[in-house]
Amino acid sequence: MTTAGLPESLISTLPGEHYTDPEIFRLEQENIFETMWFCAARSSDLGKPGAFKTVDVGRESILLTRARDNSVRAFYNVCRHRGAKLCTQESGEVRRSFQCPYHAWTYDFEGKLTAAPNLTKMPDIDRKEYGLAPVSVREWLGYVWVCLAENPPSFEESVIQDVVDRLGDANAIVGYDVENLEVGKRIVYDVKANWKLIIENFMECYHCATIHPELTEVLPEFADGFAAQYYVGHGAEFGGDVEGFTVDGSEGLDRIPGVSEDQDRRYYAITVRPQVFINLVPDHVIFHRMYPVAADRTIVECDWLYLPHVVESGKDVSRSVELFDRVNRQDFDACERCQPAMSSRLYAKGGVLVPSEHHIGEFHDWVQSRIGR
Ligand code: FES
Ligand code: FE
Repeated sequence: MTTAGLPESLISTLPGEHYTDPEIFRLEQENIFETMWFCAARSSDLGKPGAFKTVDVGRESILLTRARDNSVRAFYNVCRHRGAKLCTQESGEVRRSFQCPYHAWTYDFEGKLTAAPNLTKMPDIDRKEYGLAPVSVREWLGYVWVCLAENPPSFEESVIQDVVDRLGDANAIVGYDVENLEVGKRIVYDVKANWKLIIENFMECYHCATIHPELTEVLPEFADGFAAQYYVGHGAEFGGDVEGFTVDGSEGLDRIPGVSEDQDRRYYAITVRPQVFINLVPDHVIFHRMYPVAADRTIVECDWLYLPHVVESGKDVSRSVELFDRVNRQDFDACERCQPAMSSRLYAKGGVLVPSEHHIGEFHDWVQSRIGR
């Protein structure tokens, strides 16, 4: 028996309040999303100097832009004068500078305060000191990652090495050349569920036979429920008559050249803590980012990435998009079905994990250690 008096084969989940309590969500924002490296945008969303995107990271709005030297910059989206939100649009492009809509303080793409009405009458104001406050930023796999911590953990150790350790093979992801693929399709899902329900769902395949008819058709071993999405180390093999990772198993698109023979006809899945899932198949990569906005709501942005010539030639990617779009909708429906019951008195002490889900317990331990509960 385990501590909760459960049989060995069962371990308990987190109590229901971990999925509903705003105070627990605040602790997660503070100790996870505002402390770790957070995947904020695709680098190509910031196409040229002046292109920008605003993203909520934990409780902060962050402004991402591209400077004149082509490097990506990240700042708190807060005017240094009286604190107005500087950019109110989700994305766009400015020609010369960012101007605050309140009293017109103006900042360049490097964050420097360049103009303010009557500033000539305030010669002692330090334009650097009152520039936008920068946030640590990195690019990896063609995505922009930011970290709000004052002393960010090493990106190499806390992100890249963590992924490589779980992959077992440092080169497993390299061949997919994720950085140089192009976005063929992006779908944004507004999911009425706590972010942890989405991760837990992604980590197990116990539900695959019940809710994913198309996916189990393409990946028959998923039907037995034991494949952990966490990282399918050996890769889940396509079914015998399956030609490609598409909704009907029909032929896919051009194979990514760096994909090795033994990775061909296989599906790999990786989670990058705290909010990224990546799926690798021979002709495309599916890249999910989660943006937790409340204890009971998470925005999930999903990119389907293909070889540039596939996207540029306008080839039909819809059958490959449709497969995982259906999978996503099936998964998010399941998460939304669980969310209301998290506040049921019956779930006050949580539920249980069966053996094929036991690794989710490690995720729960990790979250609890981060928030100190
Ligand atoms: Fe931005 Fe005054 S608050 S210029
Ligand atoms: Fe699923």
